[in-house]
Amino acid sequence: MNMILTRKVPSNAERYFSTGVSMITSRGTKGHNVMAAEWVTQISYNPILIAIFIHNGSQTMKNIGKTKEFGVNVASTDQTTEVNVAGGYSGSEIDKLKIKNVFKTIEPQKIKTVMISGCTINAECKLVRKEKMGDHVMLVGKAVHIKHDDTKSPLIYHRGRYFSLDSTIEHDRKEVKVSKETLEFFSHLSHEKFVLKCAGVLVKSGHGIMVIKWPKTEFETIPFIISQTGKNQRDLLIEFLNKTGFDIQVNTEPIMKRLVLRNKNKVQRINFVLFNGKSKKLSLGAMWKPIHLDVIANSV
Ligand SMILES: Cc1cc2nc3c(=O)[nH]c(=O)nc-3n(C[C@H](O)[C@H](O)[C@H](O)COP(=O)(O)O)c2cc1C
Repeated sequence: MNMILTRKVPSNAERYFSTGVSMITSRGTKGHNVMAAEWVTQISYNPILIAIFIHNGSQTMKNIGKTKEFGVNVASTDQTTEVNVAGGYSGSEIDKLKIKNVFKTIEPQKIKTVMISGCTINAECKLVRKEKMGDHVMLVGKAVHIKHDDTKSPLIYHRGRYFSLDSTIEHDRKEVKVSKETLEFFSHLSHEKFVLKCAGVLVKSGHGIMVIKWPKTEFETIPFIISQTGKNQRDLLIEFLNKTGFDIQVNTEPIMKRLVLRNKNKVQRINFVLFNGKSKKLSLGAMWKPIHLDVIANSV
């Protein structure tokens, strides 16, 4: 008799995510504890909320359920030993923090659970939400105290191996060093927005771009043009400029240019739609404000 056996082979595709690794500190009846967790992510800037995903059988889960607080200690590249111990043993069987020469703890500022020294980020969190998600439980903590050590580099985790961030990849959002005045100009235009979206005209003569400045009111730019599937970018831009009353001739197909302008530690992100063109007539006494960004002009 012929028997065909079929076996479902799992693809394990879910095991190919890349993450960082954190060490979650907690405390309970067995004292302070630490576990390794790769499923840790920030989910809100203001307030700072951090979600961690923890399995129910862990000592950490029991501890946080009782104290409603935990520490998120984002591991640095120097801490593979700490992570292996934190992730390889349970606090229910061993006091990991007391193992000789592995962890160095620091006193917390706003919670009562110890934190780990030598990390890139230490966030002291108060539990604000707990929800079962499949075979893990999501615990959301509000950071009540957070600090970052920029001398340390984060540890990256992928398929059971550790990596470091020692190379960057060129991408379409370039970082450009600009003067204080240029940065202030664009930050002002953005009205505190994280990303300023605007259109600008490339100026051949000055190796720069121009955006609109209204003399009486605030600075203004021509806002970003939302593209529509199947529609030509240039036609959309012309249509948009006509609608807004700007009498500008668009000579070329618009170019998308994403930049991060930096002056010392201040940055402004900008998504430009740039085009070669010239203004026929400006309405309402508006003026052109030339912005000299050699890098933009040279790279388009
Ligand atoms: C690199 C690494 C990442 C891990 N990530 C998680 C995670 O995100 N969630 C989780 O529940 N367990 C994770 N674990 C497993 C726990 O760290 C492990 O079960 C630990 O023993 C729990 O400790 P505890 O019982 O003292 O809380 C990870 C382990 C390692 C080594």
